[in-house]
Amino acid sequence: MSLAPRSVDDEGLPVSRRPIGVFDSGVGGLSVLAALRAELPGEDFVYFSDAAHAPYGERDDAFVIERTLGIARRFVEDHGIKALVVACNTATAAGIELLRAAYPGLPIIGVEPALKPAAAATLTGHVGVLATRGTLASRKFRTLHDTLQGGGQVRFSLMPCDGLAGAIERSDASAIASLSKQYLAALGPIGQGAGEIDTLVLGCTHYPFIADELQRLAGPSARLIETGQPVAQQTRRLLAAKGQLAGEAAEGSLRLLTSGEDAALEAAVARWLPARPVVALH
Ligand code: DGL
Repeated sequence: MSLAPRSVDDEGLPVSRRPIGVFDSGVGGLSVLAALRAELPGEDFVYFSDAAHAPYGERDDAFVIERTLGIARRFVEDHGIKALVVACNTATAAGIELLRAAYPGLPIIGVEPALKPAAAATLTGHVGVLATRGTLASRKFRTLHDTLQGGGQVRFSLMPCDGLAGAIERSDASAIASLSKQYLAALGPIGQGAGEIDTLVLGCTHYPFIADELQRLAGPSARLIETGQPVAQQTRRLLAAKGQLAGEAAEGSLRLLTSGEDAALEAAVARWLPARPVVALH
């Protein structure tokens, strides 16, 4: 049997026309989806928000892994996806290795806090990392962190932001404001002075939606780093290598699914996703 990537499926339909599955514990992954749609405008996407089980960041690994594998199975069986983007740092940290083992032929792209780009960008040598407790406690993150910190050039200050993704999920402006203030203050001085933090990693896909608030609190000189665009570029590379890009002759569609309230996801999409055709919920 040939192991070359397939251009048609068992029914003779082109694999390139299949959708790309994207999921997060909730609306955070829309920040990654926006970058994916900009990078790959001809692709069809199916987005799943697991809002009934959000937030993932304060749950144990077994729970996040079970959700992650279940969502992937549904994408594969019900939607015949050609690639999966885990648009959630917490789910990537807990489950991406198991996912890759379960679906060896499927391109699977995860997100992880952008420590390497931050290490390259910082001038003061001090980087703040905002992420969920689950992400920061994971073996995957510790390995990345220890490798980069090991060189001794850069210091990372880690901040588990309990409650922040949940507040963004609920669009709770007052909780967002007070938690952002609390966590940035706890990181220590942010600025250009010696030893101060000059670069902040947004290590949760919910946080780009409050980038303005964080920038205001951190000051104009602070550099905020997120991962949507590199994830989108990596998705393009993996699909191109398999000859499975849809092309850009026609504009791709978007289908929205959620385990939570349809209206909440629709409102988040209207607020945060640049306007493009949406093929409705379900
Ligand atoms: N958006 C997710 C992440 O990137 C998860 C937030 C949460 O559910 O706690 O980590």
